[in-house]
Amino acid sequence: MARRTREEIEQQIVEGLAGPGWVVIDDFLEPDLWRALARGAWHAEGGGGFRAAGIGREGRLAAAVRGDRIRWLESRPAERHERCFLQRVESLRLAINRRLWFGLLDFETHYALYPPGAAYARHLDRPAGRPERTVTLICYLNEDWREGEGGALRLYLADGGHRDLLPLGGRAVVFLSECFEHEVLPANRPRLALTGWYRQRVHGNVMV
Ligand code: OGA
Ligand code: MN
Repeated sequence: MARRTREEIEQQIVEGLAGPGWVVIDDFLEPDLWRALARGAWHAEGGGGFRAAGIGREGRLAAAVRGDRIRWLESRPAERHERCFLQRVESLRLAINRRLWFGLLDFETHYALYPPGAAYARHLDRPAGRPERTVTLICYLNEDWREGEGGALRLYLADGGHRDLLPLGGRAVVFLSECFEHEVLPANRPRLALTGWYRQRVHGNVMV
């Protein structure tokens, strides 16, 4: 398949958010880019750059709920491929705001590394303590992922069913943060993703 333009990819995401509220894009990041991001993340992990993830604003440790290790991305990273990733993210933010009027202000994102056997129990990305999180964007950074290796993102849909989405390198899953519960199933190999949230401004509990 010929490579699609950024505009075509962004259009598909906008239509997904406006329609069912979720969408899977298999070519969101090109192979050179996601492989460079993966290499950088593994290098950082080797240097002790990841820490166990917490839950909620206080970041309490909760290994029973989520077993991943994370590393936050700075807003102005030194690494060229990380800046390139943030350009893609910014271009999508503008496309969503232009067409859907969400008023997304910014994006926060971290790498998430699940060791074999680790999982993240069913949850919403916009619990009471995080009302500003509006759109979730997850980008996968794994080479040659097979069905039998586990590690799917299980997305629970409004009709009571669910979809299992494998964490394939280059693939992005985008959804409305307040609408879809989801979980990460355990895998039998390490599983790497870049998970992020577009945020709206919140005053108290009121969105403006
Ligand atoms: C999360 C999350 C899903 C995934 O970090 O909140 O749900 O597929 N991640 O990595
Ligand atoms: Mn989540």
